[in-house]
Order: sequence, then structure tokens, then C-alpha cells
Amino acid sequence: MTILITGGAGFIGSNFVLDWLRESDEPVVNLDKLTYAGNLGNLRGLEGDARHTFVQGDICDRACVDGLLTAHRPRAIVHFAAESHVDRSIHGPGEFLRTNIDGTFTLLEAARAYWGALEGEEKAAFRFHHVSTDEVYGSLAPDDPPFTETNTYAPNSPYSASKAASDHLVRAWHHTYGLPVTTSNCSNNYGPYHFPEKLIPLMIANALAGKPLPIYGDGQQIRDWLYVTDHCSAIRAILADGKVGEVYNVGGWNEMPNIEIVHTLIRLLDELSPRADGASYAEQIAYVADRPGHDRRYAIDARKIERELGWRPAETFQTGIRKTVEWYLANQAWVRDVQSGAYREWLDRNYAHRGA
Ligand code: NAD
Ligand code: DAU
Repeated sequence: MTILITGGAGFIGSNFVLDWLRESDEPVVNLDKLTYAGNLGNLRGLEGDARHTFVQGDICDRACVDGLLTAHRPRAIVHFAAESHVDRSIHGPGEFLRTNIDGTFTLLEAARAYWGALEGEEKAAFRFHHVSTDEVYGSLAPDDPPFTETNTYAPNSPYSASKAASDHLVRAWHHTYGLPVTTSNCSNNYGPYHFPEKLIPLMIANALAGKPLPIYGDGQQIRDWLYVTDHCSAIRAILADGKVGEVYNVGGWNEMPNIEIVHTLIRLLDELSPRADGASYAEQIAYVADRPGHDRRYAIDARKIERELGWRPAETFQTGIRKTVEWYLANQAWVRDVQSGAYREWLDRNYAHRGA
């Protein structure tokens, strides 16, 4: 048996591959285009491991996807590949529509053709798991209950709109064609291999480099944080026991305002890697212009996956964030490697006009 995953050189995908092969010997075929966010360095530990086959390719390339399905005959597809950064979607939405919508469509069509030709046990066991986000539900008011699986979709950014569209396609391919799909909508992940354009790794990298820590707006926006390997275990649970056609919200009941996240990172860095001048990294905090259309609050009600699949996160925020800071301190070469010319161009584009 084999699984095909897309986007397995990105943050969550690479953590998933590493975890999968720690937990089982079932081979993984990993299709990734290696955009700026994809990094084979994340998978260096698997060099020479026959259980992992990496293929550089685009999910929009139907011939490539068909070829992989025919050659490897996977029992499941786990679809991570996406353009994932909200700020980038504001600067350039086109690539988000192409990968997140057209790419998911291409993958669904290829999966439908492949699954349609399977028979018996193989056909009954096949699954297409779509990895999505809580952002499709829009923004919560302070007293609203957390998002459940039946919340109305109200995406507010080009990124979340493209992910919402992909969720609708996945749902339709099940209802219309019977494709055996499951979907997960997860809250904000953090942990190793997180690209330093996102809040937590950006703050760690900037702090250590003596740069400003740019807080958008008033810093009171709330996100619900989950350690990345807990997201991976949730997907494994859904693949194993999830019900076809169902959606599972995944989160760790850990809502926190951004400014509190930044202060937590500062406390850990002050302890584990103090500044040479003895001052706190808090001195580097800089309030900057807000993200246009910035969602105020996300929160996940994870009771369905807990109740139906017995899933629970293994990490608390306290244990996960300490591990994360320790990982970044021990892997500064990884951070330097991904901070290429293109990365610096992005920082100029996103932060120059914000007054950071
Ligand atoms: P990421 O940006 O770190 O990685 C995306 C990966 O997809 C990269 O390796 C990239 O090379 C690859 N990719 C992009 N376009 C491709 C294409 N056209 N063909 C093949 N590969 C392509 O993203 P991530 O943070 O790891 O997110 C993975 C998935 O999880 C996404 O679908 C995202 O929407 C979802 N998600 C992310 C979070 C989070 O907090 N990061 C939370 C919930 C859901
Ligand atoms: O909720 C799940 C989503 O979480 C995923 O679907 C996305 O792929 C993922 O990128 C993430 O989206 P966010 O926009 O919540 O993550 P980001 O790390 O970009 O920002 C987190 C919060 O921090 C958000 O309120 C914006 C704020 N922020 C971010 C950056 C990069 C800042 O205040 N300053 C910054 O420099």
C-alpha cells in the first residue's frame, strides 16, 4: 500500500511525511512543485529511504498526476499543496486561484478517473483527504462560539476564498460523483520547518537578527494555535477512521491574541538566547500598519473529531512553543537557507510600506 501526498515539502506536508514514516512503513509518494515555500531540506532525514519517493511537479499538471496514480496505485491521496500565506494573497491573488482552485480541480478529476477504474476492496478503501483551514468560516466576534463544521462559509481574503472554493469542489465531487472524500479545517499551526514569513517563525528570526517585531494593527487579533504534529495525528486519524463525505474541524482549544504570542516568544528567547546587551527582545516590538481585511478572531470547536475519532492533541501551547523556539535556535542554518534573495524581496514588499 502507498499514499500520495501533495505539498509534502512545505511546512505541514513535510512534518506529515516525517511523522508518517516514523509511525509506519507504508511508502509515501510526495508530489511538490517546490515553490518558494517548498524545501527539500525539510526531508533531508529521509535521504536514501526507499519508503519516500519525491516528485517535483505541479498539481495543475493532469498528465503528471495521472502518471503518478497509474505508476504507484495509492490507496489514498492527502492534499496539502496550496499557496498558504494571506499577505501574499493580498499582493498577488492569481497564483492562489491557480493552485488552490484549479490545482484541486485537476487533482479531483485525476482521482475520480483513477478511483472509477478501481474495483472491489481497492475501490472501497480509497480516500481523498483535503487539508483545509478555519479561515473559510470568516471572522468571529468576541463572544461568538468557536467554529463548528456547520458554520456558514464567509471567507474574507483571496487566500481563504480560494480555499473555500476548493472545499466546495471537494464536497461536490463527493455528492455528484461519489468520490470518497474527507476534509479537515484546521486552525493555525506552528512548529519546526514553519516558513519565516508567518507570525511565529518571523518573530523568532527577526528577534535574533536584531530587527523589528512587526505587530499588525493593535495586535489583539486572536488565532487558535495547534502544534503541527498534532495536526498530522488528526489527519492520520481521519484517514484511518473518518467517515466518507464528512468534515472535521481540528484545533487545540488555544485561542490567543497575537501580542500575547509575541510576548511568549520574547520570554522564551530572553531565557534561552539572551541579547548580548542584556536588554529584552521586547524592545524590538514595532506596531505597523494593519493587514487589509484582517480577520479579528478564529477559534475551532474540535468536539466532533474528539468524540468520533478519539483524537486529542499531544502538546499544550506551553510545551509546543518551547519546543518550537528550541528548534529554531538549534536550526538557524535552516532559517538562513530559506532566507534567499526572493525572501528578502518579499520582506521589502510586505513591510516597507507598513512603517516597520
Ligand atoms: P506551505 O506554504 O508551507 O507549503 C505548501 C507546499 O505546497 C509547498 O511545499 C509548495 O511547494 C507546494 N505547492 C504550492 N503550489 C503547488 C503546486 N501548484 N503543485 C504542487 N505543489 C505546490 O503551506 P502549509 O502551511 O504547509 O499548509 C499546507 C496546507 O495546510 C495548505 O493547504 C493550507 O491551506 C493548509 N493549512 C495550513 C495551516 C497553517 O497554519 N499553516 C492551517 C490550516 C490549514
Ligand atoms: O488559520 C489557519 C491559517 O493560519 C492557515 O490557513 C494559513 O495558511 C496560515 O498562514 C495562517 O494564517 P494567518 O494569517 O492566521 O497566519 P500568519 O502567521 O500570517 O498571521 C498570524 C497573525 O499574526 C495574523 O493575525 C496576522 C498577524 N501578523 C502576521 C505577520 C506575518 C502580524 O501581526 N505581523 C506579521 O508580521
